[in-house]
Amino acid sequence: MKPVRKVVFPVNGLGTRFLPATKAMPKEMLPIVDKPLIQYAVEEAARAGITEMIFVTGRNKRAIEDHFDAHPELERELEEKGKDELLEIVRSILPHNIHCIYLRQPKALGLGHAVLCAQPVVGDDPFAVILADDLIDAPKGCIGQLIEARASVGGGSVVAVQDVAPEETKKYGIVSVDDGSLTTPRVRGIVEKPDPAVAPSRMAVIGRYVFEADIFDHLARLQPGVGGEIQLTDGIAASLENVPTYAHRFEGTRFDCGSKQGFIDATVHFARKRGFEIH
Ligand code: G1P
Repeated sequence: MKPVRKVVFPVNGLGTRFLPATKAMPKEMLPIVDKPLIQYAVEEAARAGITEMIFVTGRNKRAIEDHFDAHPELERELEEKGKDELLEIVRSILPHNIHCIYLRQPKALGLGHAVLCAQPVVGDDPFAVILADDLIDAPKGCIGQLIEARASVGGGSVVAVQDVAPEETKKYGIVSVDDGSLTTPRVRGIVEKPDPAVAPSRMAVIGRYVFEADIFDHLARLQPGVGGEIQLTDGIAASLENVPTYAHRFEGTRFDCGSKQGFIDATVHFARKRGFEIH
């Protein structure tokens, strides 16, 4: 079984829920305390042994590239002023032996299409997908847990899942599984954002995935789905017959930083962890 060394970060969303903050700034650059969401995501991937970070970007996303690039003037300035701690923070944004690759998605045609844009770089290798606005605090990073789960079932696709309240199913991809009592059950069906009345379960897909490269063939054949977009969920559904796919109940606390409430909860959580007082 090939190891997972590549991750795709789809970062071409408009972030309209955070306007005006996201008018000129990528939503992935919004900080939780002092670190941008996308940096949490990159660190999680690096901790899982991933070395190729593939960003699918678009207009207005230059700040992400700049963030992970060297900044010689700033480093020189910090060095001259003896600000060693800050210098270390700036220099360690990107761990050593990590490569960043940037691709543009010319039109925001959906999450499935964004992932498909990475095919020329991913090639035939298995790969991870991380949605940076799902921030997960876990002793062992969520994507690392998925990669381990993939190894334990002998390969295939693995999606992270969590139970949600019945009325929340219409915000997520929802899976149906063989045996819901298992930690990593086999997925039998998956549907994007079903109404509670027709949802096959309450097991919601959270923004962490590991795929075999076969997923690209299925994504390439898709028609637009929910919201007129090429949906990653539909690509997974189309691949279920050919690719063994598992849902993994990960350990950790997840914050939906695509919503203001989740973003604020995450800020309070990480601020407390860092020793700040919340009044
Ligand atoms: C996307 C996926 C959905 C998944 C969710 C996780 O939806 O389409 O299947 O459950 O991420 O956060 P979005 O939040 O982009 O609407």
